[in-house]
Amino acid sequence: MMKEELLESVAYLKNKGFDNPEIGIVLGTGLGKLVDSIEDPIDAHYNHIPFFPLATVEFHTGKLVYGTISGKKVVVMQGRFHLYEGYDFLDITYPIRVMHMLGITKLFISNAAGAVNLDFKKGDMMLIEDHINLQGGSPLAFKGVSEFGERFADMSEPYDVDMRKKLIDIAKENDISLKQGVYASVVGPQLETRAEYRMIKLIGADAVGMSTVPEVIVANHLSLPIVAVSVLTDECDPDNLKPVDINEIISIAEKTEPKMVKLFKELIKQL
Ligand code: HPA
Repeated sequence: MMKEELLESVAYLKNKGFDNPEIGIVLGTGLGKLVDSIEDPIDAHYNHIPFFPLATVEFHTGKLVYGTISGKKVVVMQGRFHLYEGYDFLDITYPIRVMHMLGITKLFISNAAGAVNLDFKKGDMMLIEDHINLQGGSPLAFKGVSEFGERFADMSEPYDVDMRKKLIDIAKENDISLKQGVYASVVGPQLETRAEYRMIKLIGADAVGMSTVPEVIVANHLSLPIVAVSVLTDECDPDNLKPVDINEIISIAEKTEPKMVKLFKELIKQL
């Protein structure tokens, strides 16, 4: 059933000119500007793509943009779907399946996250090495999953080692600070309590956010290599916790964005 829907979504996009993209990119909250670097862009609003989840959230523009960056064909999701908007795991990972069927062979993901590792500061970027799924479900827990790949998907190395190495080198060469750590995903939309931050740190996470992990699980299931970077927008110190300011989170993400754009553009060049 889902396969037919996917084929229709893909047919619509191909018809619009989304021709064999190599790289798929998911842009997180406050991180949408990479699309300004796309040459000869073609966009498709989520609401116009057959069977795409309907875009709702006010912070996102909600479109898929196809074009060229650093000489390579890319397809960029400007705005993603979150569980906290009321979508389910299948909805939020649907676009990953569409981009995969369009032909991408690599996936880049960005997000905004809170720093629970207090050596990390707001405005830092963190390359995700591994993750902890605290969202209480899986995008692979559905009846027809075996049609798409091995049900018991391997997650021993969910983030591509080679692209991670490349990003670390790119950061060094460009004097950009890039931390590395473990990302824990929660549903949200409420922020965490002090007790929750203590727990998240204790179980081994360096950052916490409300996205990314479902997309990464599906990409692994499709054997699609991924690299993911968090912008750390707030410091989650349970012993000195200030009320969160969502506008500050977005403004820190926006300020850090040029560095993220630099990293991604250089990585595209090297692939
Ligand atoms: N939790 C805490 N801080 C954050 C988050 C989150 O999910 N996202 C961005 N900053």
